[in-house]
Amino acid sequence: MTSILVRNGLVITSTGIYQLDVRIEDGLIMEIGRGLPASGVEEVIEARGHYVLPGVVDEHVHMREPGLEYKDDFEHGSKAAVKGGVTTVIEHPNTIPPVDTPSRLREKAEILKPKAYVDFALTGVLHDGNTHLFEDILAEGAVGFKVFMGPTTGNIPPPSDSSLYEILSKSAKHNTRIMFHAEDHALVVYFTEKARKLGENPILHRDARPPVTEVYSIAKIATIAKYTGGKPHIVHVSSIDALEAVMNARKLGVDITAETCPHYLVLGEEDYSKYGSLVKVNPPIRGGIQREKLLEAVAKGYFDAIGSDHAPHTPEEKSKSIWEASAGFAGVQTMLPLMLDLAIRGFTPLTTIPKLLSENPAKLFKLWPFKGSILPGANGDLVIVDPNTEFVITPEWLEYKYKISPFIGWRLKGRVKHVVLRGSIVVRDGELTGVKTGVWLKPITK
Ligand code: NCD
Ligand code: ZN
Ligand code: ZN
Repeated sequence: MTSILVRNGLVITSTGIYQLDVRIEDGLIMEIGRGLPASGVEEVIEARGHYVLPGVVDEHVHMREPGLEYKDDFEHGSKAAVKGGVTTVIEHPNTIPPVDTPSRLREKAEILKPKAYVDFALTGVLHDGNTHLFEDILAEGAVGFKVFMGPTTGNIPPPSDSSLYEILSKSAKHNTRIMFHAEDHALVVYFTEKARKLGENPILHRDARPPVTEVYSIAKIATIAKYTGGKPHIVHVSSIDALEAVMNARKLGVDITAETCPHYLVLGEEDYSKYGSLVKVNPPIRGGIQREKLLEAVAKGYFDAIGSDHAPHTPEEKSKSIWEASAGFAGVQTMLPLMLDLAIRGFTPLTTIPKLLSENPAKLFKLWPFKGSILPGANGDLVIVDPNTEFVITPEWLEYKYKISPFIGWRLKGRVKHVVLRGSIVVRDGELTGVKTGVWLKPITK
């Protein structure tokens, strides 16, 4: 097997930045230290002046297989992931069929395995019809579950209050995180009807899903979590109001965590007129003071995680009118570059990146410490970044099936130079060199 030495780089972890060497052998990190000997090592990567980060664990991707390959597929999506510095993805279950039984979870893994350029873990979906399968889906290898409280791609109906109670009770019992798409279904329907009457200006998508829909849903989840000890993880928090609801619940002792996504931090209301339905996503991009405060909250460490909510659709689906267009857009390849740019420009500490993009997602979904960390014994997953180069996102660079993204043409500070997956260099000097060696990761249980 291979051995590599990444020398003299600036190793960034949640606790600080240290100039250190990292030696990887047979896919695992063997040694971290200063002046490690290069003798016997097959390849030395000179990383002086470069950042060395743990490979990103993107906890929120919808790669569309099986059933929705016409939008994108795992081969394209997983290639895009590694090129963007992501070495592990956590796949969400709103595929067709939805991952709501143990056999569907196993079948999905079998479909993804031969196409995987990246390591992957799977989540199951819970709804009124399958809460009794919680344990069986877990036993099959799910790292967590997803619950949809509001309407979005896949149209999985929200759980009844009693199912929600059941789900969060089981979450406590089995120490399993439940990801929530927290937008209240009834309120989204109500506000959408009202907004549709106002016309087709893309920005009306914001009015169709105002912050109260998030806050109301979180309040409900948090209340039940308080009485059951369940562990909700609120994904794609798009408003400061929603984050405050999470933080208030934490103060009451609820074990509740929160994720936001790069698009809420970098896009604004002006982008609705610039990009139209392309930037339609659930929950909506809000811009303005919301965006400023979310970014401030990331910098202050109020969020637990950042995920991409990679949600590709076809160009046709993304060019319809705001009410007809599909919600979501591809983002797995641009998440780390966008966050690096924010950090290098001083909007958030550099340590935010390993903490929110690698370490915490791995911890929340039982992949720690083998994934998301630079520690002896961990998987040799690293990203080496040149912070002094600027790079422009181009359609040629993107590996998605359809090269559409609001970020095309953006000039960013920092460049993902090399990516190492279990000791193999899968991206070398920005070029994909990896092959389909990704593996299915089951939760690490102690
Ligand atoms: C996601 C999708 O298309 O799968 N869309 C989105 O707008 N975020 C689903 C989701 O996460 O809600
Ligand atoms: Zn969602
Ligand atoms: Zn999503």
